[in-house]
Amino acid sequence: MATLETTVDGLTLPNPFIIGSGPPGTNRRVIARAFKDGWGAVVAKTVSLDASKVVNVSPRYAKLKSADGAEVLGWENIELISDRSFDIWIDEFKACKDAFPDGVLIASIMEEFNKDAWCEIVGRCQEAGVDAFELNFSCPHGLPERKMGAAMGQDPEVLEEVCGWVNAAATIPVWAKMTPNITHIEDPSRAALRGGCQGISAINTIRCVMGVNLDTLRPEPTVEGFSTPGGYSSKAVKPIALRMVMEIAQLLRTEFPERSLSAIGGIETGEDAAQFILLGADTIQLCTAVMKFGYGHIETLKEGLLAFMERKGFDRPADFKGHSLDYFTAHSDLVRRQAERKAKNKTKRPASVGDDAGWDGDAFVQQSDSLT
Ligand SMILES: Cc1cc2nc3c(=O)[nH]c(=O)nc-3n(C[C@H](O)[C@H](O)[C@H](O)COP(=O)(O)O)c2cc1C
Repeated sequence: MATLETTVDGLTLPNPFIIGSGPPGTNRRVIARAFKDGWGAVVAKTVSLDASKVVNVSPRYAKLKSADGAEVLGWENIELISDRSFDIWIDEFKACKDAFPDGVLIASIMEEFNKDAWCEIVGRCQEAGVDAFELNFSCPHGLPERKMGAAMGQDPEVLEEVCGWVNAAATIPVWAKMTPNITHIEDPSRAALRGGCQGISAINTIRCVMGVNLDTLRPEPTVEGFSTPGGYSSKAVKPIALRMVMEIAQLLRTEFPERSLSAIGGIETGEDAAQFILLGADTIQLCTAVMKFGYGHIETLKEGLLAFMERKGFDRPADFKGHSLDYFTAHSDLVRRQAERKAKNKTKRPASVGDDAGWDGDAFVQQSDSLT
């Protein structure tokens, strides 16, 4: 019978679905709820040693909705990492592990470019009993002003050094969480893996501006009449996340075959998860979808993934991990393959006629654009 049980970096998860760092892992109470409801693991909200430097504003979310207003397609946040004290977090990590000794609890950590600070945060979280680390090199707003988060994740040299410090101090698996706000995500990923990280998580949010209010003429979300670019998440980012996960998976396959990949970005269904696993993911993280649908959504996710596996005859997620990676190639190769196929079928068309020649100026629809 098919099973969702997943082993990654020596950790055993009842299923590959992990709460992504953010509001759904923001304190002991909600982490406990996630374990009770059967999530495979929880990445807690990102913590740092000195929470007094973290000041959140309100409102800090803005949403892109479908035309009928019923569905949230995109979500901007200008939320910072946790503003709760590190001592409280350490107590809560301990309490979570006491209450759920088998629950896989991953501490998301972030610090400035300071070796002692990184070693201290690693040591204290480890003593509290967490099972793994995720290094947040990816928050796109607020923290880069202190050279943290995405500012570090966009500098492979700095990243490799910090990952080296962390991995020298850590005795548990370490994943590095990548920012998508970079041209080639393979570069920081390679740096983190060279720095000794066991896995890569991707993606964090995409730097964005949600919109401008046409009554007030102010950008949104508006705080005291002003705004700042934030991080974009939810369904709308899935195609970008799939592309970046695919690129990292290719890197792992060629240069770091034993390392792991945790996919994040717009995932809402078991079928979404199957697509990310087909592109090389070991585990699947969700953040905004948990805010949209609640912790009970885990049942829908598990059902959807199991139904796909049963339909295709797979016993476990590892059986189809990376299966679809083989089918990416260069555009020139697509042209060659198509020419070969057409030559075989002897279907010729005049060289002057392009694919778009039939367009009459109304809505542009090509028959082959029908994936979803
Ligand atoms: C409100 C909010 C707060 C977030 N806070 C964090 C955070 O503290 N640390 C972190 O690594 N990622 C944080 N994220 C990013 C998510 O973990 C995730 O990488 C991103 O939202 C894309 O996944 P999703 O579409 O499933 O939300 C946050 C996302 C949202 C929407």
